Amino acid sequence: MIVAQSGLELREILKTCSGRIVLVPTMGALHPGHLSLIRLARQAAGPRGTVIVSIFVNPIQFDRAADLAGYPRPLEADLPACDVEGADVVFIPEISSMYFPDRSVTVTESLLSNCLCGAARPGHFDGVCTVVLKLFLLSGCNAAVFGAKDFQQLAIIRRMVRDLDVPVEILEGPTLREDDGLAMSSRNTRLTAAQRADAPRLHRALQMGAMMRNPEQILKTARAGIEASPLTRIDYLTLVDPQTLQPLTDLTGSAILAAAVFYGEVRLIDHVLCKR
Ligand code: PAJ
Repeated sequence: MIVAQSGLELREILKTCSGRIVLVPTMGALHPGHLSLIRLARQAAGPRGTVIVSIFVNPIQFDRAADLAGYPRPLEADLPACDVEGADVVFIPEISSMYFPDRSVTVTESLLSNCLCGAARPGHFDGVCTVVLKLFLLSGCNAAVFGAKDFQQLAIIRRMVRDLDVPVEILEGPTLREDDGLAMSSRNTRLTAAQRADAPRLHRALQMGAMMRNPEQILKTARAGIEASPLTRIDYLTLVDPQTLQPLTDLTGSAILAAAVFYGEVRLIDHVLCKR
């Protein structure tokens, strides 16, 4: 496994690589959910192809300086984990090699980004789209893998690729969960013991809601399940169309029941599919 620390270095390394290039963009602090995406990339690239994992805590997608400063960076654990999962190249650029101090071009998605996680975090998905497009261009990847856990991010990236004719196939990996159902996330380690013990209620409440017949009952049931705990505060709970991400008032096809919930300062997200 080779480590590249700038776009220039990555280009040099890629001159010697062959086959299909598959990229897994991450911000590091890798957990089994991330590792499952690297395995998927390895399969998609095949034995002769090249798997690149990028680890870059992207400053322009953070809206709070404290979040950016406090983001975990356990590189000494991340690098061997990438190696074990079969990555060929790990790309760890410095901020200065990614962004000019006077950079003035940003990729903006202006429909799907305004709701759900985007509503309370203006500019967040611009930061995501901009860095993802840069990573696609720097790596020259043929395909890239993203987790279904961040379904809004995935939908926005698919839209960017569609609207800008980006020649990259977008692959989706399923959400990996702890045994008690909590979606794996680097944020889970920031929960207190009591919050961590309570947190599986989020997924349970969404599953209970999804069993109901109409949107009103679905939302009411899920809300009751989450609010039964004194530790939670709902940021949003909504039923949306899987493609447009717009709220649904009736249920004719599939829908996504999605929530973001605060445990103290820690914000957890999850969603389930409601099939009809
Ligand atoms: P990060 O939060 O590090 O996530 C990297 C990838 O791992 C994303 O595609 C995310 O959806 C996926 N992922 C996270 N938790 C998962 C889980 N429990 N199961 C499966 N996949 C999971 O998302 C980002 O970084 C950034 O926004 C990025 C796309 C790298 C741009 O900076």
